[in-house]
Amino acid sequence: MKPFVFGSSGTASVGGLLERIEILRASLRWSTRLDRAEIQSVLGQCNVLRDEVMRFSRSTRFADARALEPLGPVPEQPAVSRRQALLDRNFVFEGVFGDNPKLLESLEIAERAAPSDLPVLIRGESGTGKELMARVVHSNGKRADGPFISVNCGAIPHELLESELFGHRKGAFTGASADRKGKFESADGGTIFLDEIGELPLHGQVKLLRVLQSQEIQRVGSDAPIRVDARIVAATNRDLLQMVREGRFREDLYYRLCVIEVNVPPLRERRDELPLLIDFFCVEAAEKLERNPLALTARLQAFLLSYFYPGNIRELRNVIYRMSCLANATADLEHLPSQLRADAESHCQESEGAEATTGWSLSEVRKAASETAEKRFLVEGLRNVDGRVMELAKRSGMNRSHLQTLLKKHGLRSRDFRGGASTRA
Ligand SMILES: Nc1ncnc2c1ncn2[C@@H]1O[C@H](COP(=O)(O)OP(=O)(O)OP(=O)(O)O)[C@@H](O)[C@H]1O
Ligand SMILES: [Mg+2]
Repeated sequence: MKPFVFGSSGTASVGGLLERIEILRASLRWSTRLDRAEIQSVLGQCNVLRDEVMRFSRSTRFADARALEPLGPVPEQPAVSRRQALLDRNFVFEGVFGDNPKLLESLEIAERAAPSDLPVLIRGESGTGKELMARVVHSNGKRADGPFISVNCGAIPHELLESELFGHRKGAFTGASADRKGKFESADGGTIFLDEIGELPLHGQVKLLRVLQSQEIQRVGSDAPIRVDARIVAATNRDLLQMVREGRFREDLYYRLCVIEVNVPPLRERRDELPLLIDFFCVEAAEKLERNPLALTARLQAFLLSYFYPGNIRELRNVIYRMSCLANATADLEHLPSQLRADAESHCQESEGAEATTGWSLSEVRKAASETAEKRFLVEGLRNVDGRVMELAKRSGMNRSHLQTLLKKHGLRSRDFRGGASTRA
């Protein structure tokens, strides 16, 4: 094992220590000398040790956070040293992997926001890791030992919204058979994570605004105000400012929530992380499914590295888990979910075609390359207009029937590109 990493303060870096524990846990899982019960027991001890290290780190972390400069432009630094710097400052990553500069920037903003009690708004497409980022803000702040309460604002039926958020008194409505705490009270002393805040109906927005202003709630059916001390972290995949312009989101609430903004980049903007994430999920899935990590054929790897991931990291994770469950030792294209398989096969044919040009004349090679470029243009174009052929014709200045002929020639169907169904980058 490598020696402990020492942080800038001269004390052993807690981040480095946690990393060592993770490496130890990973190597234990595949130990051939211990039986499963012994492995489980040592893994359990590792977990206890990890928790102790994290608890110990909190006091020093606040001292370090105070020494940080106020929010401002972050100096250019190579990605590896930026991640190492976070580790040296005992940053808790909550399992966020990757060295992509955009992701590191988000983590650095989260780090600076964490020790304050300011509201944070996390933006990002579905499946990019918004909830994970909310946990990062919570775990690196002074409320880390308090509760982290997650509320999916889009999943609560309208009539139950108030009672879910603020609780109710016994008898307040039919079915309220006992007093009940709401999410805000449960988050007292900790963080409340308001996921999908853009889905909160207008009447809920008014109520939420009132709570943010007064820091008091009232249970449904009660006049007594209850003081709550919960840090607000909200997340959305919607354009809230656009919703404000359309009158669907209250402007005053928007500015209350969006004091610090953290953007989580989509996976297609951090493709450099794909090899690391694929590897990580293969090992994670193997551990959960109690099997050896999956091997991937070269063509499957090539496809996974070129795919567009409209569902972001969640989609990648699901694909790897599915294959880890269905394939034996090695996975290939046939183990992909059906909606990806056709795309993967055509990708594979394209790359094979691109390689098999030996013996061709220059004009044949040119023709093949131009066909491939033409198809790429159409795929990309359809993806950008959500499969609307008329719109693509307008944007690209093409005649609609000519465009239809080209789509037919390449076997492309506009309906495959509707509703984010398009796939490969
Ligand atoms: N950088 C990362 N490293 C490792 N795993 C990640 C990373 N980002 C996200 N994940 C994993 O991807 C999955 C989706 O993350 P999460 O639930 O936080 O996304 P989300 O943006 O809240 O998604 P949704 O909008 O669909 O609710 C989770 O299983 C999470 O653990
Ligand atoms: Mg989420």
